[in-house]
Amino acid sequence: ECTFNAEDSYVRMFLRGRPVTMHVPDQQKGTYSLDQKVALPDHKLKLQWVYGYRGRDCRSNLYLLPTGEIVYFNASVVVLYNTEEQQQRHYLGHNDDVKCLSVHPDMVTIATGQVAGNSKDGKLLAPHVRVWDSVSLNTLHVLGTGVFDRAVTCVAFSKSNGGTFLCAVDDANDHILSVWNWQKEKQLAEVKCSNDSVLAAVFHPMDTNLIVTCGKSHINFWTMEGNTLTKRQGLFEKHEKPKYVLCVAFAENGDAITGDSSGNLYIWAKGGTRISQVVSAAHEGGIFSVCVLKDGTMVSGGGKDRKVVLWDHDYRKKATMEVGESFGPVRALAEGKPGELFVGTTKNAIIRAAFPDTLTPIVQVHADNIHRLTTNKYFNFMVTPMSCGVWTSIPPWSSLLPLPVQSQDPGRSAGFHPSGAVLAVGTMTGKWLVLDTDTRDLVSMHTDGNEIISNVKYSPDGNFLAVASHDNFVYIYAVTENGRKYSRVGKCTGHSSFVTHVDWSKNSQYLVTNSGDYEILFWEASSGKHVTNMDTVRNLEWATSTCTLSFNTFGIWPDGADGTDINAACRSHDGSLLSSADDFGKVHLFSFPCSQPRAPSQEYGGHSSHVTNVAFLHDDSHLISTGGKDTSILQWVVA
Ligand SMILES: *[C@@H]1O[C@H](CO)[C@@H](O)[C@H](O)[C@H]1NC(C)=O
Ligand SMILES: *[C@@H]1O[C@H](CO)[C@@H](O)[C@H](O)[C@H]1NC(C)=O
Repeated sequence: ECTFNAEDSYVRMFLRGRPVTMHVPDQQKGTYSLDQKVALPDHKLKLQWVYGYRGRDCRSNLYLLPTGEIVYFNASVVVLYNTEEQQQRHYLGHNDDVKCLSVHPDMVTIATGQVAGNSKDGKLLAPHVRVWDSVSLNTLHVLGTGVFDRAVTCVAFSKSNGGTFLCAVDDANDHILSVWNWQKEKQLAEVKCSNDSVLAAVFHPMDTNLIVTCGKSHINFWTMEGNTLTKRQGLFEKHEKPKYVLCVAFAENGDAITGDSSGNLYIWAKGGTRISQVVSAAHEGGIFSVCVLKDGTMVSGGGKDRKVVLWDHDYRKKATMEVGESFGPVRALAEGKPGELFVGTTKNAIIRAAFPDTLTPIVQVHADNIHRLTTNKYFNFMVTPMSCGVWTSIPPWSSLLPLPVQSQDPGRSAGFHPSGAVLAVGTMTGKWLVLDTDTRDLVSMHTDGNEIISNVKYSPDGNFLAVASHDNFVYIYAVTENGRKYSRVGKCTGHSSFVTHVDWSKNSQYLVTNSGDYEILFWEASSGKHVTNMDTVRNLEWATSTCTLSFNTFGIWPDGADGTDINAACRSHDGSLLSSADDFGKVHLFSFPCSQPRAPSQEYGGHSSHVTNVAFLHDDSHLISTGGKDTSILQWVVA
């Protein structure tokens, strides 16, 4: 609970039982009270761009729609991307990670399945399947809430009966396979599918009552009669039994074609459970994807060999191309416009491809666990230092230019010098580097302590650099020669936990820091001295508002906050908005200042795990948010 001491002019709130004291500026003395009404911000965020594709651990999740858009997912967002017009639309009905996707035979209706999640108030968000219209983006049906247990990892529409049925696999211990009449939201049948992992479940294109599932050491053919599903196991007989049957597709004549972890293609004659033809060593290593094209030929995609192979009707190799090593193994294949393919990779890239050797990346982000963002007015650059990369120009940022310093030590924080000439990058081990933004050459390299450098931030006049560390100190450097020379002038000593956030005063004379134990401390820039007289600092104007604990930002803390649920804050440059990043996958937008307890906000989903950072672009036209575990980067229009 918050209290206001009018006499000494401070607000106090508590996080994990610790008092956090924030001093009210003199200007608001006599007028401030805790129960002033605060308005919602007069702007909204609209998701404009998703940088990413989930290829790492999901399958059969890339398709071309008749609208010319490719459809795939990242975190909890399903992306519809028109690569020619460079436009994205988004389906935002899910509230946690999407794991599977199927396109209805009408080529308009889409089904997507998600994992179980956790909401802010600790409630379980049930895994379910959403069926929606890819033209209007309207949700048509929601299936299986309360029925699915862990995560829906396979979903598929039936094909031969007008797509009336839908099957799904729950990634629970028994891997329950269920069949639904999705229009009636009614489950028709369910069965324990396998104790082992199930990687694919699809309806036979000519027989509505036949479903094929495959996964660890198995392929099963299921016949549905009434509400029972009867299993027939696929027999490997004299053929090598693979560790995993990784994918299944159907030839024009109704034969099933499987790709497996040994690199073999097996053809299973229609209606049977026996292998009728073998293409051994089709790939070196596993085959993650098989896709039968409209003309009846087929392409397969390799794991270890990163090859895309074109096969004729008799399974003779016609052509091969190889995806570059930086994109990783082939995860998914989709037929594009005539002669074109879309290739999804395990390193989360999507490539437009055509035989013999055209491979054009269209989605490509080298994102690891992203924590810090910095934007800059001169370059419209955004830096995501965890992967030590710099992005140029919007929208969209389509590629990430690697920094020249190939450090084994990933970047963790970054800040531009106000001149734009250099960029400082802090790492995980106490090292920090300064790079020329033009040439991207290394200008300077220093080490302070050996822990995470959480912030590197130049003073607004460019004469100081604050280097904040998880060793509880902030190191202050005098900066000369337009960001090329550094000499240490102070070491801020006083925090008893790691430093989380830093802001400079507008006049470049002071800085304020937050720490892991919810302390707010003020420092004199020229010496690093701890400022204890609050009258020196209570009226200061701050160049940025990234401290989540401050008089102007404390309203972002929700009821019952445990102190770790807000990861970052950022004020718009015009000073009217404040955005925050929380642990529940939400980006929030508040009016600034945000000096009332539990201020009202607009809340935006899209990330599936904690949001690690938010940053407004220099002209406040866009906001960027980054995800921690989901490592997705979302770009929002501020409208
Ligand atoms: C989202 O996309 C990024 C970038 O491609 C990728 O690294 C990440 O694994 C994806 N995450 C999820 C949960 O889809
Ligand atoms: C799963 O394992 C249990 C015990 O090991 C066994 O009784 C059961 O038949 C198995 N189920 C399937 C579908 O293989």
